[in-house]
Amino acid sequence: MSTSDTELQQLKGQLEAVTAELEATRAELRQQQELIAGLNATCSDRQMQVVYAQRMASLGALVAGITHEIKTPIGAINSVQDTLARALDKLKQALSEACPEDNRAIAAALRAIEDTSKVIESASARTLEIVRRVRKFAHASGTEMLSTDLHAELDDTLLLLHHELKDRIEVVKRYGDLPEIVCNAGQINQVFLNVLVNASQAIEGKGTITITTADADRHVQVTIEDTGPGIPPEVMARIFQTGFTTKKVGVGTGLGLSICKQIVEEHRGTIKLESEPGEGTRVTINLSKELEPTESASKGGGR
Ligand SMILES: Nc1ncnc2c1ncn2[C@@H]1O[C@H](COP(=O)(O)OP(=O)(O)OP(=O)(O)O)[C@@H](O)[C@H]1O
Ligand SMILES: [Mg+2]
Repeated sequence: MSTSDTELQQLKGQLEAVTAELEATRAELRQQQELIAGLNATCSDRQMQVVYAQRMASLGALVAGITHEIKTPIGAINSVQDTLARALDKLKQALSEACPEDNRAIAAALRAIEDTSKVIESASARTLEIVRRVRKFAHASGTEMLSTDLHAELDDTLLLLHHELKDRIEVVKRYGDLPEIVCNAGQINQVFLNVLVNASQAIEGKGTITITTADADRHVQVTIEDTGPGIPPEVMARIFQTGFTTKKVGVGTGLGLSICKQIVEEHRGTIKLESEPGEGTRVTINLSKELEPTESASKGGGR
């Protein structure tokens, strides 16, 4: 076996171990969701929010550990790919000297190797980028208020949801000219994530999510509209209630919008939902432009 083969075998082993760990994590999360669903019936709002915060913290720790482990084998794939690309260049050179006349079979084989090598390169680069963003989310439990580019935060959140959305939902971005605002980026991402997950879950089959941003005097405004079935009035009356959900166990805990409201209000902002049944839903989030950064925050942005 060549060195590359051995390395690839080792990487395969490492990836299998990480996959097994992810499976175990999924099972654990399912258990926690069932636990929360059980608590829904008995706990006060505050207790449930504490349970939710703990769940998020333990999820963050799990994700941080797993992404750290994924980073290592993917980094190795990246470097093996680099070696492969250089070896391929040398092979092409040697072959052109050894058999100068056109050999179609060799040319086709080389092209196939080259294409495969490019796929490995872009797939591992993409995986590393996803890992970087997921790690950012996992570490986002800090309390710092920093100057933040909301478009970058929205894009990060969309990247995390890419797998959920890609074949089903078209995302239309109508980004306006926004100044950076001072906020807790981790918490604001949590708001975007929940509203976007709600939109995605509401849309059955194919649909569109439109994200519009605008500078509105003392606020910035982020609007997220979906082409789902809309919200009937009896549900609309209860959407911000802690623990209210119309979703099945394992899908929703009914905490998302109540946490969003709390976070947005802590940012001296507002969140409102508007919907005509059958016409989709529009969520409008206003965030203050007048919050102060935390004193310890270094100048120059929250990313
Ligand atoms: N975009 C939407 N379209 C239709 N219904 C919605 C939409 N957003 C929220 N809802 C309704 O509001 C309810 C409460 O939403 P919320 O985000 O608080 O909880 P959830 O999504 O059910 O669970 P969780 O967010 O905890 O996973 C949902 O169960 C759903 O009935
Ligand atoms: Mg939700």
